[in-house]
Amino acid sequence: MINLSTEYLGLKLDNPLVPSSSPLTGELSSAKKLEDAGASAIILPSLFEESIEFEQKQLEQFVHSQALGNYEAQSFQPIPDEYESELDNYLERLQQYKSSLDIPIIASLNGISTNGWVDTGKELQQAGADALELNVYYIAADPVVSGEDVEARYITLLNDLRQHIDIPVTMKLSSQFSSVANMILKLQQAGAQGVSLFNRFYQPDIDLETLKVKPHLELSNSNESLLRIRWIALIRDYVNISIAATGGFHHSDDIIKALLVGADITHLCSVLLKNGPRHIATLKEEITNWLEEHEYNSIEQMKGSISKESAINPEELEHSNYMHVIKSYSR
Ligand SMILES: Cc1cc2nc3c(=O)[nH]c(=O)nc-3n(C[C@H](O)[C@H](O)[C@H](O)COP(=O)(O)O)c2cc1C
Repeated sequence: MINLSTEYLGLKLDNPLVPSSSPLTGELSSAKKLEDAGASAIILPSLFEESIEFEQKQLEQFVHSQALGNYEAQSFQPIPDEYESELDNYLERLQQYKSSLDIPIIASLNGISTNGWVDTGKELQQAGADALELNVYYIAADPVVSGEDVEARYITLLNDLRQHIDIPVTMKLSSQFSSVANMILKLQQAGAQGVSLFNRFYQPDIDLETLKVKPHLELSNSNESLLRIRWIALIRDYVNISIAATGGFHHSDDIIKALLVGADITHLCSVLLKNGPRHIATLKEEITNWLEEHEYNSIEQMKGSISKESAINPEELEHSNYMHVIKSYSR
């Protein structure tokens, strides 16, 4: 009997297949289907800093206008009596998931400022979140903000949260740091229990008729997993925290490679949006068959067996590979 269990953020998971934040994890009915198909944990869609800030401004404006006796003032909608904030809804959903599902539930916050996140983190912990993923989706577009400043924001945010909450915190990062390996090390030192590598940035498009910028979301493809696999291989032996591989994990082969280089779990999103929640069962079966055929008894036994230190040819993972790749091109 092959043992697929894995440890992630101190949680004992049945297997390494974890649906990441998406509309599929945002509804109890599909979350149940994911659990039935074999998902070992679920990451809720993110609670966005912008939405909370917007609501707070609406509320402040409302209170202010009441103080002035100016109920119908300005252009905003009055707040209804049974007003439930986005955070209230999120906490309610979390509690509902906790009472209806048996697998761990990971809450997700998306934002960069420290304002308010500490209180929100405490509430998520109280509502039963088993861990917290921070998705710092930050585009460093201001030329006067240095790389150091950007990194300091991540560390400050993490430090603040770590001081106030006890559940494990993991950071979902982009690959766009001057030294991604050093950044991960700094996050470990600041108390992160894990990292999710890597966030996908969505690139806005331009409508050539209206000349307006328009949002553009495309699901990933399997090729994108190679960036993640390479970086996990490079850093696995230098950090002592959990690693989730995210972005482009579509086939069981992609997932097996991520585990071989040292990932503890893989996130699944696009593949489930394309194929439906039941696809997890197929992936699980294929991974089990591969382990059997290659004489591994467990995921723990194969995890990290070709990370940088253990790879047969470690420099293939680094720069020297570049020249060979370019020279290998033939028309
Ligand atoms: C429709 C959609 C909604 C998403 N919502 C969130 C979200 O709320 N928070 C988050 O951190 N990531 C979100 N993601 C990103 C995914 O969780 C995942 O990291 C990304 O799609 C890469 O994984 P994949 O290649 O398996 O799709 C979303 C992705 C999609 C396609």
